[in-house]
Amino acid sequence: MFDREKKGDRALLLLPHSRGEGDTIRRGEEFAELVKSAGAEVLGVIAARVEDPNPRYYVGSGKADEVAEAVRALEADLVLVDHVLTPVQERNLEKHVGVRVVDRAGLILDIFAQRARSHEGKLEVELAQLKHIATRLVRGWTHLDAQRGGMIGNRGPGETQLELDRRLLAERVKMLTKRLQKVQTQRGQQRRARLRNIVPRVALVGYTNAGKSTLFNALTTGDVFAADLLFATLDPTVRKLENLSCGPAVLADTVGFIRELPHDLVAAFRATLAEARDADLLLHVSDAADEERERLHRVVDNVLEEIDSGDVPQLHVMNKIDLAGAEPRIDRDAAGKPVRVWLSAATGAGIDLLRQALGELLGGERVQSELLLPLSAGRLHARLKAAGAITGETVDEHGWQLHIDAPRSVIAPLSGGDATETLLLRELLATVE
Ligand code: GTP
Repeated sequence: MFDREKKGDRALLLLPHSRGEGDTIRRGEEFAELVKSAGAEVLGVIAARVEDPNPRYYVGSGKADEVAEAVRALEADLVLVDHVLTPVQERNLEKHVGVRVVDRAGLILDIFAQRARSHEGKLEVELAQLKHIATRLVRGWTHLDAQRGGMIGNRGPGETQLELDRRLLAERVKMLTKRLQKVQTQRGQQRRARLRNIVPRVALVGYTNAGKSTLFNALTTGDVFAADLLFATLDPTVRKLENLSCGPAVLADTVGFIRELPHDLVAAFRATLAEARDADLLLHVSDAADEERERLHRVVDNVLEEIDSGDVPQLHVMNKIDLAGAEPRIDRDAAGKPVRVWLSAATGAGIDLLRQALGELLGGERVQSELLLPLSAGRLHARLKAAGAITGETVDEHGWQLHIDAPRSVIAPLSGGDATETLLLRELLATVE
């Protein structure tokens, strides 16, 4: 783990790869990007072919010697390995090369820690970090003191530093888990409150650097931090999406997906990515100029499966057409439904087409249903009538028996009445879901 106070780590990268692992150059570049995102300087890169991992260092011992030599020659103070190492391998390699060794999981955790914005995001990251540290807590390993100096109190009688660290760590994990549960309950309540608004929810997903934040800004007003940094958006940011033919919707930006996301992290970020799970539609953004885009598309789909969002409908956005040399357009399926929009979030070309497709997809369904309205729901009755949604009605002492036939986009914005009316509308809209 990085010592975050000490910026500008001088890093040497070690890139293990095996046959059939895809484009190794691309993987190396992506790892270097990750490293720069974490604020470290890349001094050099060493590739290592690993067909049969060495239990001691993961890489072969000859390669470990080469790394040790390069560390000395380049005066590196950190070795970053583009693979998940076991705690033992990390420690052995650290001893062998004489400087800190951080594996892929540790690096990603560090970036998550730097980027987390919401209270929940920060708690989740700290928890994941502590769990990661816990597996690496062995005798003589003192990073924890250095990192969390203020936290370590006086040592109890007869207690070794290691036992103390373990106990403090366990306590902190327990405390964080409890806090997180509380935040998640609150968040769940907020989400339910939002659901009651019956406004369609759209979430942006996509491989890191595909251009989600840029698109988010192009579609909404205000500015969310968009930078050529991986993970610029760790926590979903939610904004209102206006000027759609279906009426307003809510748009959420989510964390950028990457391959080989350490498994602990997928679990830890489940709640953050719940935005995707609860969405009515996912805008799956790809970089049209990226030759690997199909593979990255599958990586994103796989993560979505893992967080139970695999069956949320998707509209695919092919971004950066200015780089790919394509024209803005909408691709449709045999039934005429939009499936893919080609655009440039940066130049704005094709954004109007995306709005059109969103309006069609979100407002497209017709609500055709019988609805029994109590006489006390007079205001809702008036609003439905004014919107032209009622195609037949009878009334008696129990209330109105209505036949409703209108696009969802006409019905959805009619909420805003009291709780009973909202509930009635929800049920009505549920008939088309
Ligand atoms: P993460 O937060 O890492 O997941 O990235 P992201 O998907 O949110 O990407 P972001 O919007 O930060 O964009 C990444 C880089 O691509 C930035 O340098 C953008 O300026 C650039 N970019 C985004 N859209 C376009 C586009 O349409 N054309 C061009 N040429 N560049 C773009």
